[in-house]
Amino acid sequence: MAEVERRWQAIDPLLPVPGMSGPDCGARLIVTGSGGQPAAVGACEHWAGGPEELDLAWGAARRYQLTAWASGPDVAGALDPLLSLWRDHLAGLPEAGGKDTAAVVTWPCRDIGGIAALVAHGLAPFGVVAARVTGRRAHQPAPPEGGAGSEAVAGAERHGLRIRRATAGDIDTVVRLGMEVIRFDAHFAAVPERPGAAAAVRREAAGLLAGPECWTWLAERDGTAVAMVAAQRPESAGWIAPVVRLAPTAYLMFGFVLPAERASGIGAALAARLHRDIEAAGVAVTLLHYEQTNPLSVPFWSEQGYRPLWTSWETRPAGSLRLSAAEHQEPFGRAYFGVGWKEPGPPGPHEMLIPALLVTGTWSWIRRNLPEALTRIHSAHRGRRCAEWSNGAVCAASAGLDGSPDARRALEMSHCRQPIRPANAWKVPVWS
Ligand SMILES: CC(C)(COP(=O)(O)OP(=O)(O)OC[C@H]1O[C@@H](n2cnc3c(N)ncnc32)[C@H](O)[C@@H]1OP(=O)(O)O)[C@@H](O)C(=O)NCCC(=O)NCCS
Repeated sequence: MAEVERRWQAIDPLLPVPGMSGPDCGARLIVTGSGGQPAAVGACEHWAGGPEELDLAWGAARRYQLTAWASGPDVAGALDPLLSLWRDHLAGLPEAGGKDTAAVVTWPCRDIGGIAALVAHGLAPFGVVAARVTGRRAHQPAPPEGGAGSEAVAGAERHGLRIRRATAGDIDTVVRLGMEVIRFDAHFAAVPERPGAAAAVRREAAGLLAGPECWTWLAERDGTAVAMVAAQRPESAGWIAPVVRLAPTAYLMFGFVLPAERASGIGAALAARLHRDIEAAGVAVTLLHYEQTNPLSVPFWSEQGYRPLWTSWETRPAGSLRLSAAEHQEPFGRAYFGVGWKEPGPPGPHEMLIPALLVTGTWSWIRRNLPEALTRIHSAHRGRRCAEWSNGAVCAASAGLDGSPDARRALEMSHCRQPIRPANAWKVPVWS
């Protein structure tokens, strides 16, 4: 982890200190490097959203979320086998094949060495967490509260526009505009509108509007709200604060301008007003999400001083996470046949030499090739009265790392009673 932290700090000082305290389903996702040290480590979280979870508006209902740490300098070389291990883990979960599921890796945007591995496994970029460091950019002038002059300051030369802070009485307006954000984003998050979305937005809106000076701003024309920007104060943004090194952290939840009012500076004027609140409160960094393919929000938020921090790479359904192209093309394992061990018993016909199969390779390779290896063994030994074979004495070991945790796990899964070492009996390669 110290090596990952050094690398992260060098590529992006906003990344947090990496730590393994997050949720983890318990799958052992470790890739060992040539020196015997972990080259990549992953923690997989199995997440299922409740029916009124707001986050469901932007993603699958059931998510398998990998947090991955890879050491350098060959980041892709470390991440690629980690993704293969994760793929095998997901392949063993029938529910990961469900329609409304996603395999999700959140990867630092500036850790560009890992992107080739993510793409090779069929993952695509969806959501981005972007960060705006307070005071880093020249202060953008914000319109004064109230109507007069607000358009001119923002560069919008339209009349009758009033920008004001929202109050608890604006909850219906905030829900209406919040739902518009969700409907627009649904195109890029590629999710249907959820039945519980309105209730979830209402709950969120109540939180956003609570307190005397909320961070929700409305732009009104002729008394009707045409645009909104809304943010969570640091007290409510703790859920996302760990993804960034600076604190305190605010979170910009909604930004929306009605289509007929866009591209005239209203969005920029609202953002500037909100940023003035944020700066006055001493917030160090403001985060928000946008979808990578949203053609309006990506340039708009960049213009307002937000820059990418994390990208969420996804494939749906989760079970469709694929092997990397290299694994598809190259043989990545071997199968050997030999006499595995002696079954204890009185000498003579009761003592049986149990034939067994040793398969070494990645778990993906073993899964794909074990059936054929078994077929070959069966045909090779037909007629030799090898009745023991049909007892299923099969042993699988991983990656030639005899004694490694993977190999031990494989031995536990097999029916072997004692470890088998290639040096003993595994002389006859049947296939590779
Ligand atoms: C993103 C969004 C909030 C921006 O609001 P907006 O009011 O259109 O934003 P602005 O007018 O301030 O800026 C948008 C563009 O208009 C341009 N613009 C600003 N003032 C202008 C003016 N007076 N005349 C002409 N164009 C102007 C800006 O330069 C900018 O163009 P650029 O990106 O090519 O530089 C709005 O497009 C929107 O609601 N999108 C749909 C919902 C959404 O995506 N929300 C964000 C979810 S994360």
